[in-house]
Amino acid sequence: MTGARLLGLGVYRPARLVTNDEIAQQVDTSDAWIRSRTGIATRRIADAEETTAAMGAAAAEKALAAAGLTADSIDLVIAATCTSPSQIPGVGPQIAYRVGAARAGAFDLNGGCAGFSYAVSTAADMVRGGGVRQVLVVATERLSDYTDWADRSTCILLADGAGATVVGASDTDEIGPAVWGHDGSRHEVIQVPGGDDNLFRMAGQSVFRWAISLVPTVRQICERAGVAPEQLAGIVPHQANLRIVEALATGIGATNAAVARDVVDSGNTSAASIPLGLASLLDAGRIRRGDPVLLFGFGAGLTYCGQVVRCP
Ligand code: ACO
Repeated sequence: MTGARLLGLGVYRPARLVTNDEIAQQVDTSDAWIRSRTGIATRRIADAEETTAAMGAAAAEKALAAAGLTADSIDLVIAATCTSPSQIPGVGPQIAYRVGAARAGAFDLNGGCAGFSYAVSTAADMVRGGGVRQVLVVATERLSDYTDWADRSTCILLADGAGATVVGASDTDEIGPAVWGHDGSRHEVIQVPGGDDNLFRMAGQSVFRWAISLVPTVRQICERAGVAPEQLAGIVPHQANLRIVEALATGIGATNAAVARDVVDSGNTSAASIPLGLASLLDAGRIRRGDPVLLFGFGAGLTYCGQVVRCP
């Protein structure tokens, strides 16, 4: 049977950096409060040209280059996003067009902040099934389009960015089994209600408590992969809040793992936060190609998904 692995990684960070002090000029908050409650120091906010499709395509081109592939070798493009600018059309076909993946299929996947892990797992199983050989997975988000800049409990968190990888056929299987689940009964805890209120709404404390309660689930991801937590070289939880990131890493006993703390510089970029976090560890030389790294996304739905992968 064919295996699947990550062949390359690429990210796009919008040019504009927004500090906590800048946000404190708009709402009643402070740099000290934001840092102590979330860990966030800065975030990137996209300008008008940095659309979900443009950022996604930029990240995708870097992922293709890192994988040593051209776009015509791509069979399928999956865009993981929950901030498409419109309900119709999807972003995936636009990214496929922009990068020149002329013969690829393309679709969107909305797994909230867990979207990247869901898309990687979907792509890996499709590759293993033999129907496709190379899938471009692109997580791209413009949360700023859905941010209520007068709501101090959410505008401090949300940010923009994109990250992409290629999931390709391989003799070795380097993408571990996905562990996923949901609590759809609490779908209202994180939502963009729509209608007159088309902005991001969140019951922050409920989400915080739910996220922390997922420690046994994260441990299960290691068990399913046959990797002990202390063997992990890296751990990249969804970059929602530094306190959640650290609680999950410490909670499973990932004592030797480099922990992604990209939320400090980049804020919460929903589905894009895992590839951005992975890139931050790679760029800093804290993990290397082939290292076992745990990815874990959680958020709107409520839903979660994670897996252990070998670093691209
Ligand atoms: N500055 C100053 N004070 C604030 C701010 C702010 N930016 N935001 C809230 N407060 C105040 C509240 O008004 C409240 O004041 P009160 O006690 O007088 O009523 C007090 O701080 C405590 O508010 P809480 O909401 O309880 O603050 P908490 O410590 O829970 O922090 C936060 C809020 C940062 C949103 C936190 O709950 C959190 O990070 N939750 C998880 C978010 C998350 O993980 N989301 C991920 C999924 S969604 C996605 O990723 C797209």
